[in-house]
Amino acid sequence: MITELARTDTPEALKEAAARAAELLRAGEVVALPTETVYGLGADARNEAALAKVFAAKERPHFDPLIVHLPSARMLPEVAEVPGEIAKEIARLTETFWPGPLSILLPRRADAIPDIATAGLPNVVVRVSEDPTFRRIAKAFGGPIAAPSANRFGRISPTSAAAVEAELGGRIPLIVDGGACSRGLESTIIAVSPPPAPNKKPIITILRPGPVTRDELKKFGKVEDGRVHAGKPETPGQLPSHYAPRTPLRIVEDPAAFLPEPGKRYALLSFKGEDEAYLNLAAFDQVALLSPGAGKMPEAAIRFFFLLRQLDECGADEILAEPIPERGLGIAMMDRLRRAAAGSGSE
Ligand code: TXA
Ligand code: MG
Repeated sequence: MITELARTDTPEALKEAAARAAELLRAGEVVALPTETVYGLGADARNEAALAKVFAAKERPHFDPLIVHLPSARMLPEVAEVPGEIAKEIARLTETFWPGPLSILLPRRADAIPDIATAGLPNVVVRVSEDPTFRRIAKAFGGPIAAPSANRFGRISPTSAAAVEAELGGRIPLIVDGGACSRGLESTIIAVSPPPAPNKKPIITILRPGPVTRDELKKFGKVEDGRVHAGKPETPGQLPSHYAPRTPLRIVEDPAAFLPEPGKRYALLSFKGEDEAYLNLAAFDQVALLSPGAGKMPEAAIRFFFLLRQLDECGADEILAEPIPERGLGIAMMDRLRRAAAGSGSE
């Protein structure tokens, strides 16, 4: 299959790209689309055959459900059943964070969203993207779009059209190039439970940390981390191996205890590039800095997957990673880094 690349850098190109993407979605095809978090592989969330193509292109197992993107919050009641006991909380959250990188787990309306989209689960994860190109396409299409990240299963998420091309080129008909993703990390996924007692706050469970941080969510309830039940994660996004480079990746917690192997080629993923203990670990082939000198979390997040992909391609035998401070967006980055390390090094 030839993969078309649609530019969006002039008003005419954007208009054409949106029309072409909407036309393909209506025809039951899959299309790679920019979002503010990472590029997604979109398909009509109501069309089983189209959804099957998403799983096939990504080589994604059918037990791993897809996030459903809505053109606007107004469509929420069409795809999900918002329980009355949390309706007020959901309204406050969606008014505050939509459009934006917050995904919410809610009971699915099975008459609107087929089993294949949610792997047969009774819940659906929904969000409204804030990316201007995505919004334009979603509006032109007018329906819910199921879109997992546009990478092959288990691999590094794409934050540029070129990265999508490297992952899925030849497997899908169209990539809409909306430029670099403005957030760079996948959306925060939460579940909301009613207050356990009348004078208590509702409970917000973070199932996947992301751009909307724990601190931002605190205003809306008691925030907890996703629980693992009977050894099975509540959300399959919590699979221990994910976001993985082909090159082995190791988080070096204690630089003093590290000894480079002679003849082995190393690359370094560093936060600010200022910690000598890390910079001098080995004679590096390549050093990538997430936020050079500044240590700014939003900048590091935008560059995170891009640099991980670059290091994976630099020819090193092993990527060493300096831990990122676990505050704010650093929590989401360390989550990705640990899963990347767990899954790295396999073809
Ligand atoms: O930012 C994002 O969320 C990006 C962009 C494209 O929107 N999408 C994304 O999708 O990260 P994906 O499929 O790569 O990750 C979504 C995670 C998956 O690991 C999936 O298991 C989990 O969310 N998930 C989706 N629907 C679910 C459901 N109904 N129940 C439990 N987990 C669900
Ligand atoms: Mg993904």
